[in-house]
Amino acid sequence: MSDAREARLGEAAIAAAACRKCAIGYERRNNVYGEGDPFARLMVVGEGPGETEDELARPFVGRAGRLLDRMLLAIGLPRNDVYICNTVKCRPTLPGPNGPRNRAPDAQEMENCRPFLEEQIAIVAPEVILALGSPAAKWFLGNDFAITRMRGRWYIGPRDTPLMVTFHPAYILRQTGGQIDGVKRLVWDDLKAVRTKLDEAPACVVETVEIRQGTLFE
Ligand code: URA
Repeated sequence: MSDAREARLGEAAIAAAACRKCAIGYERRNNVYGEGDPFARLMVVGEGPGETEDELARPFVGRAGRLLDRMLLAIGLPRNDVYICNTVKCRPTLPGPNGPRNRAPDAQEMENCRPFLEEQIAIVAPEVILALGSPAAKWFLGNDFAITRMRGRWYIGPRDTPLMVTFHPAYILRQTGGQIDGVKRLVWDDLKAVRTKLDEAPACVVETVEIRQGTLFE
């Protein structure tokens, strides 16, 4: 059963790697599809790969990724137990004197990549989704989403999945002085809400449905 999900994710990753709908599809080194437990109860969605991710073809493996790992561990979730991906699978860049610089994905890039993330959500069928930062929040909730005012509440995401939005770990890393603790406290509240939601949710339901489909209808 686990193999079936893994195989579907593997096939989808191959399709994503072949995509050249956007210019960044030609500019990136690697397609960064996503990784983690195909049966993860929590899916974490960031905005897009940065330089290290582009180099290693893995999501959230740079400085922000190391902070994300610690944030997840703080609520009892080792990285390998969750599924981590992004709204876009190719690194969006701007030219710079010392080489390309990261930028946020634009609306068209996010739309072009939308079917890949929709498919990931359908395959993994997480019980809870955590969107990190404004671009990821807008992917789910529309362009009017204002993260400072609207994070930290439960929304209904794709497939009726409870969706929490919090600040991106890169945003936490950009804070200075006294602001760091304030932002960290807000993120901690959001993470605790995710933990509580997972503790409330019946962990077995997704598995039961999968078993029935796997044995009777596939
Ligand atoms: N920031 C993101 O949004 N995604 C990554 O994979 C890495 C950094």
